[in-house]
Amino acid sequence: MIVKEGIARISVPDSYSRKGPGTRSAGFYNSAQHINRDLTIMALSVLKPKNYLDGFGATGVRAVRVVAELGIQSSISEINPASLRIIRENLEANKVSATIYGEPFQSVVLKGLYEFIDIDPYGSAVPYLDAGLAAVKNGGYLGITATDLSVLTGSVPSKTRRRYGAFIANDDHRHEAGIRLMLADVVRRAATMDRYVTPILSFWHGHFYRIIVRVRNGSQKADRSLDLISTMNFREMYSDFYEDIDQGPVWKGDIEDASIISKFLENPPEHVSATSVDFASRLAGENASFMFYEMADAARSLGVNLPRVNELVDYLSETGSRAYRTHFSTTGIKFTGSWQQFIDAFLSVSGHA
Ligand SMILES: C[S@@+](CC[C@H](N)C(=O)[O-])C[C@H]1O[C@@H](n2cnc3c(N)ncnc32)[C@H](O)[C@@H]1O
Repeated sequence: MIVKEGIARISVPDSYSRKGPGTRSAGFYNSAQHINRDLTIMALSVLKPKNYLDGFGATGVRAVRVVAELGIQSSISEINPASLRIIRENLEANKVSATIYGEPFQSVVLKGLYEFIDIDPYGSAVPYLDAGLAAVKNGGYLGITATDLSVLTGSVPSKTRRRYGAFIANDDHRHEAGIRLMLADVVRRAATMDRYVTPILSFWHGHFYRIIVRVRNGSQKADRSLDLISTMNFREMYSDFYEDIDQGPVWKGDIEDASIISKFLENPPEHVSATSVDFASRLAGENASFMFYEMADAARSLGVNLPRVNELVDYLSETGSRAYRTHFSTTGIKFTGSWQQFIDAFLSVSGHA
């Protein structure tokens, strides 16, 4: 059957996945990743790389859209012969061209100096990170999708330790912790190659995380980026309500480039959906603080009901500190003030001051 996404019409198997992780099959297409592809198109519209490698083609939807919507020269790698046939059909049907390699991503990255390499495999991106980080052009970008969220959020601690060398508590903060764990892994791997990484975009949506990072050469900057990776302890950061547990190591630097996000929000590419633009507009405040304050925890620790989130955000913003909603939790707030200021405001807004 044919599905419409962006400007593209894509031939997909009739059994394609409308939500969740989807089942693995030739021409794998997951409509739940539409937002991932839209935000990639938005970022590419500002980053303007000279070329793009869709490293895990499946239907080729990413490259088809990148060529058709942005005119960026693209290549696709894919190892499944049936998927390769579908990719060829989709390129032809959309009247666009891209170089197709029926070879593993790991060898295709060595073929050219790619300025944007998209890593979107089934499950964990870990097996492909070193190949992408080593091959991408100096100053180029990696887009990385991870669907191993149970590992990144610590729901099976032994797996988190094995794959990422870390501990994550799997509490209400787990998705920001998981993204920061993923970033720590990428930063460390880049540093082994005397390269350093700057996050452009980082988000969680449903069953996946997506990050886009810039990769540059520089051993001193790589050293400095390693200084931004360490453990976090909510008891030390917030209050005695939390257990005295060291989580991580996680990335403590910025997780996005707000100027790039505002550029693509000012002028979103024509074919991205309004839902994706709205979602992207909710990412703008994520750098305001390292981790967010969780209102549900404050309510539990004080034994009072939750006030309205927007009311608390407005109140906190009036204290002279910055406050934003976070996309990592419906009751989470990024706030530059202290836990005590947060609690005082919480009590005032909920009528318990
Ligand atoms: C999750 S799907 C990709 C989805 C696609 N990027 C999209 O946005 O719809 C993963 C694809 O990667 C292919 N694949 C698996 N290992 C690969 C490798 N080492 N190199 C290239 N492709 C690979 C699989 O056959 C599958 O089609």
